[in-house]
Amino acid sequence: MSDWRPMAAADIPAVAAISDVVHGAYTEQAAVYVERLQLYPAGCWLLERDGKAIGYLISHPWAGRQPPVLNHSIQALPKPADHYYLHDLALLTDARGSGAAQAAIGIVRDQARTAGYARIALTAVNGADAFWVRNGFTALTDGETYGSGSVAMEQLL
Ligand SMILES: CC(C)(COP(=O)(O)OP(=O)(O)OC[C@H]1O[C@@H](n2cnc3c(N)ncnc32)[C@H](O)[C@@H]1OP(=O)(O)O)[C@@H](O)C(=O)NCCC(=O)NCCS
Repeated sequence: MSDWRPMAAADIPAVAAISDVVHGAYTEQAAVYVERLQLYPAGCWLLERDGKAIGYLISHPWAGRQPPVLNHSIQALPKPADHYYLHDLALLTDARGSGAAQAAIGIVRDQARTAGYARIALTAVNGADAFWVRNGFTALTDGETYGSGSVAMEQLL
């Protein structure tokens, strides 16, 4: 049985290890996860099975058309923010195909609504855009991305 629970500071080494395995060239330094957890704990979740971390979710309010720069500090959340940003959803191979990704997207939708946003944005990498389309996101033809192979996407609530 896998469950999403709020992320804690002690989870960061496990989050960074999952990121390295799952994201390859797009992995980020642990300091990025530490910062997002400090700035917006309500958007940071860990997937556990039998006490072992097998996935994570990082999301937070954001503003404008540029996504947060990958692997860089954002220092503070934008004020005012104008949408909700799904920064990262990563599952170890064993955790996939289980519905955990859809549960995470449900958490993101709920938190975006609770925080008062009508739009969720993300940047799809590593060919995951088809997965996001199946889960209600649309590719933006004029969106800013991380560069080649990444796709700016949105979902309106
Ligand atoms: C993306 C992710 C969270 C989806 O979770 P999941 O449990 O695999 O999702 P589902 O079971 O609902 O969907 C899996 C389908 O999406 C496809 N898919 C998922 N990630 C993909 C990727 N990076 N590239 C290509 N296809 C991908 C799978 O091939 C599978 O397709 P199928 O059903 O035709 O076999 C998970 O696969 C993952 O962590 N991937 C690596 C990290 C990643 O790419 N995160 C998104 C960054 S924007």
